[in-house]
Amino acid sequence: MNLSTQYLGLKLENPLVIGASPFCDSVDSACRLQEAGAAAVVMRSLFEEQIESEIRALAHHIESPAESNAEATSYFPNFSEYQLAPDQYLRQIEALKRAISIPVIGSLNGARLGGWTDYARRFESAGADAIELNMYQLVSRANISASEVEADMLEIVHLVSSSVRVPVAVKLSPFHTSPANFAKALEHAGAAGVVLFNRFYQPDLDLDELEVLPQLRLSETSELLLRLRWLAIISPQVHISLAASGGVHGHEDALKALFAGAHAVQVVSVLLQNSPRYLTTILDGMRRWMSEHGYSSVDEFRGSMNLRHCPDPSAFERANYIRILQAWRVATPHEKS
Ligand SMILES: Cc1cc2nc3c(=O)[nH]c(=O)nc-3n(C[C@H](O)[C@H](O)[C@H](O)COP(=O)(O)O)c2cc1C
Repeated sequence: MNLSTQYLGLKLENPLVIGASPFCDSVDSACRLQEAGAAAVVMRSLFEEQIESEIRALAHHIESPAESNAEATSYFPNFSEYQLAPDQYLRQIEALKRAISIPVIGSLNGARLGGWTDYARRFESAGADAIELNMYQLVSRANISASEVEADMLEIVHLVSSSVRVPVAVKLSPFHTSPANFAKALEHAGAAGVVLFNRFYQPDLDLDELEVLPQLRLSETSELLLRLRWLAIISPQVHISLAASGGVHGHEDALKALFAGAHAVQVVSVLLQNSPRYLTTILDGMRRWMSEHGYSSVDEFRGSMNLRHCPDPSAFERANYIRILQAWRVATPHEKS
């Protein structure tokens, strides 16, 4: 059974990639993931605020009392709250590269153009096989338009991908007005792949204390549906790699993402809920399903349920929305009994 796939120009033994998460903070845990069958790993993101925080911490140490813009920065975690300091992050890339043979992907969430390119180069020098740009941002100011945000993102992708030789993937949020158009623009800007999608962690309100509660909930498998739709719509329209991220909890989820057009499938929550060994269960399930359905390689079916190839493309589009709403009826009391 041939599960191999090409992702970002890298040859992977199978499509299962460990998504950006704390898993690779420890070399031991990365080794266990490789043993369990992971085809590549993405490290947790290095945030530019973290780099700045380190510089401030250093400045504070050297010329205390220092912090000039304390108010503006006080909402971000302190230097000590970040898990991997920038230097540690680079050393961790080197340590992972020594310990495991599968590709190691560094993840970066910058804030300034210079910050993105500088750290992308450092990731590359430390040995990262690829760079994932975590384009998670929350634009809360009403005077910033979507087109400005997207233009900035394209500039970052263009600058970073022309500053490094390793492939650059872009992890997107699902909140773009025209995701297929933007994926195409990212391709033109030099991205080697797009990861669909990052998850936003939505804060809740505590009505007793009248507080905003930040929270991190692990994903549920129903979240995959949004990814399937956009993989299916985008995959026939671009030539770059696509990865699914969000809601892949079992072998059927992974297979669906591949049928919709993904080259790789990222997993995090299901491994945090179970253990790295759960990867073996997913891979065994994929092999079993493929053998029962007469497939011997992923390439035979990848993308065969995307918008171009599936039997009913309207199911992914507007027509289906209308049909589903129109078909829904509220049962009368008579029908209920
Ligand atoms: C504990 C935790 C830490 C994460 N850290 C990052 C991160 O640093 N950068 C990033 O891009 N995504 C991060 N993510 C998001 C995951 O990479 C992934 O996109 C998301 O969890 C959806 O995949 P899943 O359904 O397999 O969990 C994190 C997720 C979790 C649960």
